[in-house]
Amino acid sequence: MRLLITGGCGFIGSHTVREALGSGKFQKVVNLDCLTYSGNPENLKDIDDGKYRFIHGSINDSNLVQETIREEEISHIIHLAAESHVDRSIDSVEPFIRSNIDGTRVILESIRDLEKLGHEISMVHVSTDEVYGSLGPEDPPFTEETPVCPMNPYAATKAASDMLVQSFSNTYGIKAVITRCSNNYGPNQFPEKLVPLMTLNAIEGKKLPIYGDGMQIRDWIHVSDHSRGLLESLFGLSDGSLTPGEVINFGANDERTNLEIVSEIIEMTDADKGLIEYVSDRPGHDRRYAMGFEKAKLALDWEPLIPWEKGIRGTIDWYINNPEWVESVRTGDYLNWLERHYG
Ligand code: NAD
Ligand code: DAU
Repeated sequence: MRLLITGGCGFIGSHTVREALGSGKFQKVVNLDCLTYSGNPENLKDIDDGKYRFIHGSINDSNLVQETIREEEISHIIHLAAESHVDRSIDSVEPFIRSNIDGTRVILESIRDLEKLGHEISMVHVSTDEVYGSLGPEDPPFTEETPVCPMNPYAATKAASDMLVQSFSNTYGIKAVITRCSNNYGPNQFPEKLVPLMTLNAIEGKKLPIYGDGMQIRDWIHVSDHSRGLLESLFGLSDGSLTPGEVINFGANDERTNLEIVSEIIEMTDADKGLIEYVSDRPGHDRRYAMGFEKAKLALDWEPLIPWEKGIRGTIDWYINNPEWVESVRTGDYLNWLERHYG
């Protein structure tokens, strides 16, 4: 098995590269990443494995994608490359359409065209619970049968890419499954997202900006549980436990309000509660996500293994103990974003 991971220098991608190399199941793991602001080669700098190769390039470059698949004789793809931050999509949707929708089209067309020449490729397309929209307080969790109803521009581009994958699977017989996961946390996450932003601000004694009333709910999963699920999905597609075109959900059954998360971070970093600052709400802010993952349990024998208490402690310690990494992500773009978004 020869694996291509797109977006492998990002948060989930870098954990998935490690998980794939650690599994011992791949002869080669190729990481194609164009290094946007959130792609950071530092995430993988300690990897010294002859099976690993990094290619600096975009999934929008169809020649490069085809050449990579051909030259490296790729048999499996985990497609993570995307613009991933909701607030940025509210600012400007164009990069999301380019990477999330058109980038996925390029990968699908490359697979379709190379399969005509005899290549056989299986793919996991990494999507999100956000495509299902928002739940009311008493609603049951999302299942794979929940209708897709994206409520923000990021989620709309992810839903569009999911539908392209489904349509290519149906029309051209492409062997792909779609995974949808809830909110990930863990080491290496770019500090525009809730957990790392609040952790670093708390450590540095800066304001902790809570959108609206802070009572929005997310289902938090440790990134390594998600990465393991992505590999299990790929193996499930190969051994027939999953059928092409299927959707599979991952979650942790661990719903928490944003205020609870921030309060816990304050406690664990010995920060001052007075740092909390209620700011304007995110436009169109989804109120609640919760994921049902019975199918992953049954079809893949997968379940989340890292309890929140252990995972968040380890995550906070990681940010405290890796100041060089923190420095390395504080690019001009990050500082501009903070200035533009929070003022
Ligand atoms: P991230 O922003 O940390 O990483 C994205 C990576 O993709 C970066 O390395 C970036 O350089 C790369 N990339 C972006 N556009 C590219 C392009 N055109 N060509 C090549 N590389 C490109 O994001 P993440 O949080 O690691 O999310 C990864 C994937 O998982 C995304 O598809 C996202 O929608 C999905 N997802 C994320 C979460 C979450 O909680 N973070 C949950 C469910 C699903
Ligand atoms: O649910 C999966 C999704 O989780 C992924 O598909 C996305 O790629 C990922 O970014 C994440 O989206 P969210 O919008 O849920 O994550 P974020 O960390 O941006 O925000 C989490 C919650 O915290 C959300 O309700 C908004 C709130 N928030 C966030 C920031 C950055 C704040 O209150 N203040 C903040 O400064």
